[in-house]
Amino acid sequence: MTVLEKIGPQPARLGGTALYDWDYLVQEDRAHRLIYTDPAIFEAEMTHIFGGTWTYIAHESEIPHVNDFITRRLGLRPLIVVRDGEGKVRALYNRCTHRGTTLCRWDKGNAKSFQCPYHGWNFLNTGKLRGVPWPDGYAGDMHDPKYNLAQVPRVESYRGFIFGTLNLDALPLKEHLGAIATVIDEWLDRNPGGKVVVCEANRFRYKGNWKLAYDNSCDGYHVAYSHRSLLETENRFAGENAKGMAYYRNSPDTQPMYMRYTGHGNHFKDKRPNLEKRPGGLWALESAHPGMEHYEAEFSKRYGDRALSMLDLAGSEPVNINVFPNFSLLGNHIQVFEPVSVDETNATWYGTMIVDDGSLGEDAVRDINSLRMRTQEGFPNFGEVDDIANFEQIQKGLLAVEDEWVYMNRGFDIPGRVKTHEDGSITAPATDEAFMREHFKEWKRLIQTKQNLAIRREP
Ligand code: FES
Ligand SMILES: [Fe+2]
Repeated sequence: MTVLEKIGPQPARLGGTALYDWDYLVQEDRAHRLIYTDPAIFEAEMTHIFGGTWTYIAHESEIPHVNDFITRRLGLRPLIVVRDGEGKVRALYNRCTHRGTTLCRWDKGNAKSFQCPYHGWNFLNTGKLRGVPWPDGYAGDMHDPKYNLAQVPRVESYRGFIFGTLNLDALPLKEHLGAIATVIDEWLDRNPGGKVVVCEANRFRYKGNWKLAYDNSCDGYHVAYSHRSLLETENRFAGENAKGMAYYRNSPDTQPMYMRYTGHGNHFKDKRPNLEKRPGGLWALESAHPGMEHYEAEFSKRYGDRALSMLDLAGSEPVNINVFPNFSLLGNHIQVFEPVSVDETNATWYGTMIVDDGSLGEDAVRDINSLRMRTQEGFPNFGEVDDIANFEQIQKGLLAVEDEWVYMNRGFDIPGRVKTHEDGSITAPATDEAFMREHFKEWKRLIQTKQNLAIRREP
């Protein structure tokens, strides 16, 4: 039998803020290709999602001292994230109020003020206009607040992770994070002092929509196929212990790992139950990188009995924690998704280091951090490229206009498979797409809500 599908009209633009019938574009078990390909939807997202909800912008350790700054983006808005002279973290728009050029062209630095390269207007790092060249040429009052830099009105940190939103009605950050904050706590608390500092990054840019990365962030279905070469490489070097992502090889759904959705688009994939709870158990899973055996031997020579638990501090925590729309903690890395256009995205992997809280000593911390950096050579280098290849190929596939739907129905409608718990969180086996169905409910809620958005300027 041949099944023919009639080609109907494409979903119609409704105009105004409604834009589309969102319930049609995002259904319980499938989403329309337009949400990944339509520039008008991308533009709406830059306000309703990257603006309408808490979005990750930087880590406090990147601006540890007063007057430190780093340039970042909130959606497409260029920002200067700065710790002002009083220690307050601000997210200033990196956009001169005169004629609109970017004000600061450096990635990071320390500055009390920023001088516009175009005509020399000078702004304090509180955002206030400090002065303009030859002010006699202006009739009006240059102290009018409209000349002060725009800034993100709400900037809050959770244990060092800085988020911002333009939405005056958004819940306080801690409440918004809800149950995912506990998992972030666990991720941090295994490190001395419950802290990490962010170091340099591994930067990728792919030709695909930003949501393709977030849709993949909790996807346990693709691992055995998309990452086959990494899996095999890792396990070629493995003895008794299977390395890296080996527990995805055979029937991943019967493994103790699982996914949990915690609300507001946030979810995590927990592979920690697969771990042997013993010193060195985490390190035993670490994917292979050059010189690894040498490091292990050197650690036990230097540190004796403490070596195994120290190696665990260099190892990658087997949990993926995803905060909608742009933030993931994976292993011991922070990954940030930054939209560039409807079909282009930056995916940046920041390394993290542990700090010396006095329990390990300076030398041990240095040794652990040197090794911790080498974990970039596992998944972040050799796995991420597989994922990015998929994202680019999806974007190409979605150019097929008549074939309209993307399915996210794995695990859907099977009695007893997806469980809703008393706290409202949802768990499912590792390969289910329940996380994606849930984060799309949040996406749909945000995209169709009329939001109370604002920017702020110093008075
Ligand atoms: S655009 Fe900045 S001073 Fe003119
Ligand atoms: Fe992947």
